[in-house]
Amino acid sequence: MRILILHGPNLNRLGQREPQVYGNKTLGDIDSLLEKEAKSLGAELRFFQSNSEGALVDFIQKESPQAGGIIINPGALTHYGLSLRDALADAQLPIIEVHLSNIYSREEFRHHSVVAPIATGQISGLGWRGYVAGLRAMVELLKERS
Ligand code: DQA
Repeated sequence: MRILILHGPNLNRLGQREPQVYGNKTLGDIDSLLEKEAKSLGAELRFFQSNSEGALVDFIQKESPQAGGIIINPGALTHYGLSLRDALADAQLPIIEVHLSNIYSREEFRHHSVVAPIATGQISGLGWRGYVAGLRAMVELLKERS
């Protein structure tokens, strides 16, 4: 059971970037927590972060045929990244969209997600816990399907 963990623009700055909004954990911390959780769930993870939409699209095209599901925090691409959305839709896999912050309690432009309509579900506002919850949910979804 292989799951792709994708992080969009600026998430490489976690830990330093607006910790009052995004928390103190670095991206490495979050990926390590996920790796540990994946081991106990019997899942294999592939991690990728990029500040470039095209690089995320390339990764999805290359890796999705060998994967069972995608967990993605698209960063600001959430709100306008249509080529990312198209690549995710094309993957034809269950997709869980994760946001550290509650995008609905912030600026108006963050309230709309172009990814949400093609996602299986969305988790927003639980900080790093949202990724772990997303991974557990994804493993259950994939077990149900198989
Ligand atoms: C984010 C929310 C986005 O609006 C923002 O651009 C991010 C992070 C979150 O995890 O809360 O980069 O996706």
